Amino acid sequence: MRQLLIGALMTLALGANVACAKAYSMAEIYNGACALCHGKNAEGNPEKKGPALNNLSESELAYELLILV
Ligand code: HEC
Repeated sequence: MRQLLIGALMTLALGANVACAKAYSMAEIYNGACALCHGKNAEGNPEKKGPALNNLSESELAYELLILV
């Protein structure tokens, strides 16, 4: 569900670009753009200093994503 939310927000944030190129699935967006630093299961990646995202509630995640862009 959190990955779906991430994907939905990313689709909104990058909507124009994504829509022109190809309809990427949410998993493709997360795995391609976020998993490197945040981990395949959003568990975080200390090597890249990406914090875990799987410990955030949906509203926390939505808020973090909104203030990031
Ligand atoms: C190059 C590595 C990198 C990539 C790629 C990356 N992030 Fe991050 N992300 C970080 C780092 C480092 C932080 C911590 C930044 C800070 O605290 O100021 C962060 C913070 C966040 C946070 C806030 C988490 C918190 O607990 O405060 C969210 C949400 C987030 N990223 C989502 C994403 C999403 C969604 C993507 C893919 C579209 C993504 N990130 C791609 C490195 C990355």
